[in-house]
Formats: sequence, structure tokens, C-alpha cells
Amino acid sequence: MKTGKFITFEGPEGSGKSTQIRFAEKWFKARGQKVLVLREPGGTETSEAIRNILLHASDDLSSEVETFLFLASRRDLVEKKILPALASGKVVLCDRFQDSTWVYQTFAGNFPQPLFEKMGEVATGGLKPDLTFVFDVPVTVGLNRAGKSDRIEKKSAAFHEKVRRGYLEVVRCNKKRCVLIPFKEGIELVQGEVRKVLERVCK
Ligand SMILES: Nc1ncnc2c1ncn2[C@@H]1O[C@H](COP(=O)(O)OP(=O)(O)OP(=O)(O)O)[C@@H](O)[C@H]1O
Ligand SMILES: [Mg+2]
Repeated sequence: MKTGKFITFEGPEGSGKSTQIRFAEKWFKARGQKVLVLREPGGTETSEAIRNILLHASDDLSSEVETFLFLASRRDLVEKKILPALASGKVVLCDRFQDSTWVYQTFAGNFPQPLFEKMGEVATGGLKPDLTFVFDVPVTVGLNRAGKSDRIEKKSAAFHEKVRRGYLEVVRCNKKRCVLIPFKEGIELVQGEVRKVLERVCK
């Protein structure tokens, strides 16, 4: 039974997810709440091994193979880390989750939507975030910030433009749980936006 809070951080490369998750972690800890911070893919021994393949495989991976690996990694993380932490009342902050798979593999890639819906449901066991931050960033700014080093960051500019649009679509279709954080240069400015949302939603 879920009693904690599950919050995900989404957005294109270099949009500020990892920076803002560290801020949110401090924000919750200052309120005396127990927090678990996770990143996807990763967070368990198996998921970290899968992460290594996904980010550094030297040969091409089809959308299908990529998606199966992401979903397997997610299932392991949900079972071993996320559900137990939520059951013990923790706030779970996750750097990327199911929306990333939809955006990268289905919206910007070619993994079929109906299959994503079925298999995605198996991966999460139906778990949905209570709140999702979606950070927007122009593609060139994001890629420059991120430093373009892993296999996915090296995909074409057109692919990354689609990723950006895909995230706007995620927000449009999931208004209740998603908050769009518009692009702003300056970490503190974005932090201010995140703080306002946390103060409103996690009173
Ligand atoms: N609003 C901002 N203004 C200026 N620089 C920023 C801002 N947000 C983040 N940065 C800087 O951009 C870089 C990338 O940020 P961060 O790692 O948080 O992005 P990310 O979304 O986690 O990227 P990735 O998808 O590659 O994991 C970092 O050096 C960070 O300090
Ligand atoms: Mg990051």
C-alpha cells in the first residue's frame, strides 16, 4: 500500500532535472521528511547494468530493444526500491520515469503506442507519479549544457526537437499530475519555480 509521495523529474537533455532534484531533496529533508532519490535507468544492480548498455552500447539498438531494456530496468527499480520506499512513507524523487520512454521511444522513436501502453503498464505495475516536473529547454542550449557524450545524446537534432515537443505533449495530456517549468537561464530562477510548486502541492 502506497503512503509516501512519488515525484518524477522529466525533460530533455540538459534541462536541469538532476540539478533541481537535488534542490527538491534538500527542500523535503529540511521539512524532516525521509527522501529517496533515484535515477533512471539505474538504482538497482541490474538496472545499473542495463543503464550501462543503454548509454554506452557501441552498436545500434532498435526502438524495440531499447524499450525492452528501459522497461526491464524500470520494473526492477519499482519492485525493489520505489514501492518499498513509498510503503514506508518516504518521498521518492525519480530522475526520469515512464514519460521518458513514451517521449524517446514512442513519440520521437518508432515503438508502437499500443504496445507501449500494455508493456509500460507491466513495467510500472500501474504506479503513476503524484507529481511530475517537466523542464523545458531549447535543444541547442540543453545539448550544450549536457555536453553530448552518451549514445542517446548523440542522436540527431531533429530527434531532440521531437523529444522537446513530446514533453510538451506529455504536459498537455496529463495536466493533473504534470507541471511545466518553462526555460529560464539561471539555476536559482528555476529553483524558485520548483519551490513554488512544492509549497503548493506538498503542503
Ligand atoms: N536554469 C539553468 N541555467 C543555467 N544552467 C543550468 C540551469 N539548469 C541546469 N544548468 C546547468 O546545466 C547542466 C546540466 O544540468 P542537469 O545535469 O541538471 O540537467 P539534466 O536535465 O539532468 O541533464 P541530463 O539529461 O543530461 O541528465 C549543469 O551543468 C547545470 O549546472
Ligand atoms: Mg541528469
